[in-house]
Amino acid sequence: MRVVLFTGKGGVGKTTLAAATAARIAADGLKTLILSTDQAHSLADALVCSVEDEPTEVSAGLYVGHVDTQRRLQESWGELQNYLTAALGTAGFDRLRAEELTVLPGAEELLALIEVSEHVRSGRWDAVIVDCAPTAETLRLLALPELLDWYVTKAMPADRRVVRALRPLLGPAVGLPAPSSDAWEAAERLQEQLQEVQRVLTSPETTVRLVLTPESVVVAEARRARTQLALYGYRVDSVIANRVFDAGEDPWRAGWVRAQRRQLDEIVESFDPLPIFQAAYQPTEPMGADALNRLGVDVYGSADPLDTGPSAELITVRQEGDLFVLELALPMLDKSSLELTRVGDDLVITVSGRRRVLALPSALRRCSVRRAHVEDDRLAIEFDPDPTMFPQAKGAHP
Ligand SMILES: Nc1ncnc2c1ncn2[C@@H]1O[C@H](COP(=O)(O)OP(=O)(O)O)[C@@H](O)[C@H]1O
Ligand SMILES: [Mg+2]
Repeated sequence: MRVVLFTGKGGVGKTTLAAATAARIAADGLKTLILSTDQAHSLADALVCSVEDEPTEVSAGLYVGHVDTQRRLQESWGELQNYLTAALGTAGFDRLRAEELTVLPGAEELLALIEVSEHVRSGRWDAVIVDCAPTAETLRLLALPELLDWYVTKAMPADRRVVRALRPLLGPAVGLPAPSSDAWEAAERLQEQLQEVQRVLTSPETTVRLVLTPESVVVAEARRARTQLALYGYRVDSVIANRVFDAGEDPWRAGWVRAQRRQLDEIVESFDPLPIFQAAYQPTEPMGADALNRLGVDVYGSADPLDTGPSAELITVRQEGDLFVLELALPMLDKSSLELTRVGDDLVITVSGRRRVLALPSALRRCSVRRAHVEDDRLAIEFDPDPTMFPQAKGAHP
């Protein structure tokens, strides 16, 4: 069961190439679902179809799904929102203001991810292709399940039975209404859904494909995206360079072909070892399953459109003598953009302003950080076992 997420800068051709890939896979006889997490409904436009609540088959084996965010928002978030609105009301906010505050930013896109993970689990599909929003929004979205789970875990004490028993007492004590059991169950359900989303997104069967056009500004953004995707634990399987001009006679076109050639050479070199596919600039907008399938055939040639790309472990922990070393793959990292902080049992890693709070594996929680360095696209953090916690490690005798 493969899942491929398509992202890249706005307008580079994410929707077109996601749909072309899906059409190409479906033509191979695989039952393929394409879904969008983008608010823009361009998927239906590219495939020239209408969107229905249930996935609709637009050509043999190719299904287009649509996320009914309003219905899903009510299902997953409704009870919680009712509780929070009531709690904020008690705290002195008026109802309108409280309602504004309880709308989680990115909730609708997050629900689309929950829908993706439910489709993956359903066993109905051979492949699920996801047409994502532009890079910045996608990165925010892809960081959200782990982040929310982290907050919810911190907010919910380990033994929930105790909290359940205390629930009627907690409310009055802190001056807030006690969450109803519906709200409580909704919070637990949401947390399970978030964990399921994380399992699907970080599975080795799930990869991200970066779409770009051979232009320096676009390439620069794609490079940063690759580092940041790795930071959040996502595997990039390949790059598709779109709108590549065919050679031609007139000077205007020849100029573009030369400029694109230079960019393409640089893309190949800097994204190594990722495969770089190319999509030619078509004479008309590629629309409809047939045209998109032709584009897909052109892009992938004899390559497998579902290949997972070069695989490398994103996070590893190993022991080196007395030390533990935690390594994180961060390809194309600009070292000056990296910040590292240890907060209790968490490691906070920031790259160009994007942050990941990484819960340390239990073996490392009782160690102190000795130093960190970057080598061969990997950030290595060395941990010293804490002598007060491991007296035997330093040869101390009782
Ligand atoms: N290779 C191509 N040749 C010609 N037109 C293209 C090509 N790729 C995309 N387009 C057109 O460019 C526009 C933007 O593409 P789209 O896939 O919607 O971009 P994105 O999803 O990244 O915003 C659409 O009108 C699409 O038909
Ligand atoms: Mg799009």
